[in-house]
Amino acid sequence: MTRASDSIPPRNARAVVDLLFTQRPSFHGELSAGSENYAITREVCDWLAEHVPQGSRTLETGCGYSTVSFLCRSGRHSVYSPFAGEHDLIRRWCASQGIDTSHVTFFAEPSQQALPARPREQLDVVLIDGDHAFPAPFIDWYYLADDVAPNGLLLVDDTHLTTGRILFDFLVSERTRWQLVCELGKTAVFRRVNSEAVAIGKSWADQPYVQDLQRHPPDLLGKINRGCRSVASAVLPAAIKAPLRKLFG
Ligand SMILES: C[S@@+](CC[C@H](N)C(=O)[O-])C[C@H]1O[C@@H](n2cnc3c(N)ncnc32)[C@H](O)[C@@H]1O
Repeated sequence: MTRASDSIPPRNARAVVDLLFTQRPSFHGELSAGSENYAITREVCDWLAEHVPQGSRTLETGCGYSTVSFLCRSGRHSVYSPFAGEHDLIRRWCASQGIDTSHVTFFAEPSQQALPARPREQLDVVLIDGDHAFPAPFIDWYYLADDVAPNGLLLVDDTHLTTGRILFDFLVSERTRWQLVCELGKTAVFRRVNSEAVAIGKSWADQPYVQDLQRHPPDLLGKINRGCRSVASAVLPAAIKAPLRKLFG
């Protein structure tokens, strides 16, 4: 864990988002930080710059332009993301622009390993945008959801990916616990609507998403499709499977 220690005054969040999207610094890359740019959209950064309450307690999995957008408004921001090189680039870019990062704590660990050990505390805004492989976003959600303050906000990125879509569908079905505030392209914003437990210790029988799937199992066509795919996958040689996969996904 490292803690930034600059002491530069906070900057106007909208202006900082402008700077980000004018300069387009690259922060990402597992082997070589700065070799990739997987930034969240400008629409989301603008939304964060406007809606994150000033001085609030915020947290994200993954890091990048969202980190910079959060930190301009947040009073204390935590980042759970494994690659320290990405954190250094974010801090360096902020320092070069005179942007204070002293209230940001970077935890350089995969979120699925770090979040279970995180000391519990209430959060005003949370963004899930780290590892998108199954079941990482669900682990992020499981260990963070109960700490989102009543009326606090939860953002789920990449709802076009299967894992993001399942989490989105699940949260939409949890009508007594989460309200869909808006969709910013492939990023969904939910508000926690009450203070009852939402994740830890919850029974499957109290989850409409699970209940609905129990009552209405996936359709027959879907079952046939999956059956054909597993037979094809078992019997066809790789040279035939690859072009078929390209054609039919
Ligand atoms: C899509 S990018 C995040 C984009 C970022 N929100 C932005 O606005 O630029 C995914 C991020 O997740 C990080 N990541 C990869 N594996 C992770 C894991 N297991 N836990 C948390 N973060 C992870 C990557 O290093 C990267 O910073």
